[in-house]
Amino acid sequence: MQKIIKPLIKFKITSILVFSFVVFTSCVTGQLGKRNNEDFKNGMVVSAHPEASKVGIEILKKGGNAVDAAVAVQFALAVVYPNAGNIGGGGFMVYRSAKGEVNALDFREKASAAASRDMYLDAAGNPIVEKSLYGHLAAGVPGSVAGMVEAHKKYGKLSWKEVVQPAIDLAEKGFEITKRQASELNGLHRKLMDINVNGTALVNLESTWQERSLLIQTELANTLKLIQQKGRAGFYEGAVADAIVAEMQRGKGLMTKEDLKNYRAVWRKPITGNYRGYKVITMPPTSSGGIALIQLLQSVEPYPLNRWGHNSDSTVQVIVEAERRVYADRATHLGDPDFYNVPQKQLLNLDYNKKRMADFNWSAATPSDKVLAGVIKGKESEETTHFSIVDHDGNAVSITTTLNGSYGSLVAVKGAGFLLNNEMDDFSVKPGAPNMYGLVGGEANAIAPNKRMLSSMTPSIVEKDGQLFMVVGTPGGSTIITSVFQTIINVIDFNMDIQSAVAAKKFHHQWLPDEVYVEKDAIDSLAAEKLKAKGYNLLYRGPIGRVDAIIKTKWGSYQGGADPRGDDLAIGY
Ligand code: GLY
Repeated sequence: MQKIIKPLIKFKITSILVFSFVVFTSCVTGQLGKRNNEDFKNGMVVSAHPEASKVGIEILKKGGNAVDAAVAVQFALAVVYPNAGNIGGGGFMVYRSAKGEVNALDFREKASAAASRDMYLDAAGNPIVEKSLYGHLAAGVPGSVAGMVEAHKKYGKLSWKEVVQPAIDLAEKGFEITKRQASELNGLHRKLMDINVNGTALVNLESTWQERSLLIQTELANTLKLIQQKGRAGFYEGAVADAIVAEMQRGKGLMTKEDLKNYRAVWRKPITGNYRGYKVITMPPTSSGGIALIQLLQSVEPYPLNRWGHNSDSTVQVIVEAERRVYADRATHLGDPDFYNVPQKQLLNLDYNKKRMADFNWSAATPSDKVLAGVIKGKESEETTHFSIVDHDGNAVSITTTLNGSYGSLVAVKGAGFLLNNEMDDFSVKPGAPNMYGLVGGEANAIAPNKRMLSSMTPSIVEKDGQLFMVVGTPGGSTIITSVFQTIINVIDFNMDIQSAVAAKKFHHQWLPDEVYVEKDAIDSLAAEKLKAKGYNLLYRGPIGRVDAIIKTKWGSYQGGADPRGDDLAIGY
């Protein structure tokens, strides 16, 4: 019996998307509105969009493994979740086989060969913010199709044709958009029209979008058919590549046929770290997420968070001070490892992270301008989406993928029906100049031809006693790392079930600006007063993170946590 489990609480969506899925064997009962934490023996899918979760479950039911389901969900999201699901963006995958083999795939976008360090600065050397955020120049060379081809080639079981087909059906026959999507698309109507003078399926010329309006994307269906027939060549060469390059020429972008043909996804060694007897397997650079996550865990491990309590003043203070130091390191030391010697070993050293916390003072906040990045010896709209999958055999996939901003650069490739990313804004366009998430950077993340821009995406898998324990990830720009971190400690330190851990209110600090961003009701008023008295500047904001996660219980079943901040859906069977 399959059950669909939908969180009850809905919040205004942030500019991010996450989905996780674990799959058992399923059947749809249509029990929407039920909270999660039910046990499923065969599998589960948790994703940001119900249609994508259904696609994943169906692939698993057909005998596909977690990677087959992941590829199908990635393509489905490109259709049903165009604000972040994509073929015009990029992402990361962390994989753990049922036997414990681990791997990580980097399909992050790259700068074009013609990109240059100062390409977003004016004559006076100041950043022209819109240039890295909107329009053709904001787009990096997409990596998602290459990533899916590579993942499927290495681990897939079903045919490529089978895993791409569900997305083609959704694009060709259409799907009913959600209320949230209708409102977003209506809000973007003017901007989409201005940027896409040739039109796009996302613009409704006849009327306004309504909840349950049918969105049919014929051009996107044709592009997906080419990808289905020709694999990576269906996207990086031929008609689609021609359309991308023509689009670049129309809008003065940089991407060339050579950029597209030369793009390759890269297998990397995952980062691992230990925390209170659990092993965390996570994404290495080009993401900053994995290193920062392990640094945060190492920084707080000496402290009795459980005794202090969830989001008590002491717990928040220690976590904020750890975050301040870790994000200072991120700004200085992290970038594309193919271009910059990331001091990974030292940043992941337990003593290093403990020492970083040594100057923290219980009586007052450490001002961020007093925290510099650690000295390393030698050189070594928050819109994204995450999904996690576990298949019948226990193989697990954790993927986070993005266009960067909501609907990316807003540029739809004429004739090809998909949006291009605005990932170039994730580079440090000038040392110390904040990007759209307020993150700063320097040399390590400076723009260079063919370089990948630094990311915060943190797809992760946690083991306990050598067995799969948790699959987790989230969208959220700079808050991705701290949301994944809090979800993990909510389970490990505060003994929450996975749905509660995902739904729990969160907070975030990123060194600069020196503010603690807090979701409403995340910290009780007494704790907040104590923190303010010590000099912490608490700023209340909208939802933080949108985590979709799966946990394996002691008795071997799976439970899903679908974030109530969005339309996320867990389906188990
Ligand atoms: N575009 C957000 C990130 O990759 O961190």
